[in-house]
Amino acid sequence: MKFLDPEWHDKLSSTNTVLLDWLKSREKIPPGFVLAALEQTAGHGRYNRHWISKAGRDLTFSFVLSTSNVLEELASLTQAVALGTAAALDTFGFLTQTKWPNDLLVRGRKIGGILSEQSDVQYNDGKAIVVGVGINVNMQDMEPITLIKTATSIRIETGRKYAIKDVLNTILEMLPQWIDRWEEGGFPAIREDWIARCVSVGESVTVGDGTERQSGILAGFGDKGQLLLRVKDGVLREVWAGDVEL
Ligand code: BTN
Repeated sequence: MKFLDPEWHDKLSSTNTVLLDWLKSREKIPPGFVLAALEQTAGHGRYNRHWISKAGRDLTFSFVLSTSNVLEELASLTQAVALGTAAALDTFGFLTQTKWPNDLLVRGRKIGGILSEQSDVQYNDGKAIVVGVGINVNMQDMEPITLIKTATSIRIETGRKYAIKDVLNTILEMLPQWIDRWEEGGFPAIREDWIARCVSVGESVTVGDGTERQSGILAGFGDKGQLLLRVKDGVLREVWAGDVEL
């Protein structure tokens, strides 16, 4: 896939929500369109959790792609985007890990997250999907201690301040090859890289989806990116939604 030059706005509610609205209401939002905001007033993550970012401090953007992959492959698109974003963040000089299914971590602390949402809009060659990415860029370690324990930023990891737009350009350079691999081969095409970057593989984990929590050994990932949890008596359960709790 190819990205168009990003369209930057000073303030939007949520780049995902606005892009989903524009797809419905405006003509000519082509695949590869990138919408970025210096500030979001209603940023959200999965399960409608608030996504907190600050004006000019953090990177928030979304893009639209057209995919012919079937619906059940879509969860793993988030994983492909997480891998591409992680590879881009590594170029700043630290090791970025993933946490199933959509988190980006450095030293066990969250530096970013991905949210894919499906649009009803159909392109000639496939469905329109909106993928949003949020990255903590210039947050400093003088933030409240509760946040610093669980979150980090490019600035905290490198000791340097970065131009938000440059961080976006670095990510956009890296992403297409990962999305193309996913488009051609689904999750199996990125599984090895996912396992290499993902925290807690082979370890005891608890996975929660807001209503149910289950514990076991994170044994691996199925062909659609679903988590394989070995529970008691050696039974292997497939987990399709939720978060690995750290
Ligand atoms: C998560 O950790 O649950 C995913 C967070 C995704 C946040 C990004 S910021 C840009 C885009 N707009 C949103 O409202 N959410 C995504």
